[in-house]
Amino acid sequence: MAAAPRPRLRLSRTTVAILLVCGAVAGGGRWYVSRAESAQVASAREAKSGSPFKVFATIQELMDSTVDPAADGVWDSVAVISTEAGVEKREPRTPEEWQEVRRHALTLLEAMNLVVMEGRHAAPPGAQPKLGELDPKQIDVLIRANKPSFAAFADDVRATTLEALAAIDKRDVKALVVAGGKIDQACEGCHVTFWYPESAAPR
Ligand code: HEC
Repeated sequence: MAAAPRPRLRLSRTTVAILLVCGAVAGGGRWYVSRAESAQVASAREAKSGSPFKVFATIQELMDSTVDPAADGVWDSVAVISTEAGVEKREPRTPEEWQEVRRHALTLLEAMNLVVMEGRHAAPPGAQPKLGELDPKQIDVLIRANKPSFAAFADDVRATTLEALAAIDKRDVKALVVAGGKIDQACEGCHVTFWYPESAAPR
């Protein structure tokens, strides 16, 4: 009695094995096709936009969320604060404090790559300029017409931030203060050209 079911069992095992192989081939084939398809879709999309990057934030939002906090992190790391209690000299002292300033400098450096990315608008739709500021739509036009100049201002921020980075790596507080002042001027250069040219007072 025990011998009778054995061939059936073997047969069904073979069937299962065949089915598994078929399934793997069919499934694998489908997987391959869908991978190829999605690669095609992705490359078509890239070809259309010419870039693998995707832009989400406007320049205004990038300034507010990334550029300004990073610059503040560099500037605020060194300060002389006078109070009734006396003069407090704030500067990075521990390795952790220097590391913190360094993070901000790196963020600022890389943020300039984001600022000059193709297709980024000045501000969200409906944003209202304040007195003396250009309308964001005008800023868009201005940037598009003067891309090299816009990029050069971002490069000024990079160059001055690299000076700050060198000062940070040398633990040189004085040099960091000097570089901080230069970063500020670099920011201002772009702002008086692209953001509020009418209110730019001659220096
Ligand atoms: C390459 C040009 C460029 C550089 C460099 C630049 N900015 Fe800006 N920034 C702009 C433009 C353009 C706007 C105005 C966007 C708008 O409101 O339409 C702006 C706006 C701002 C705002 C206002 C954001 C808000 O919420 O309204 C702040 C703050 C700011 N920038 C800080 C900085 C700081 C700090 C630096 C330097 C570390 C800097 N920016 C460097 C182009 C630049």
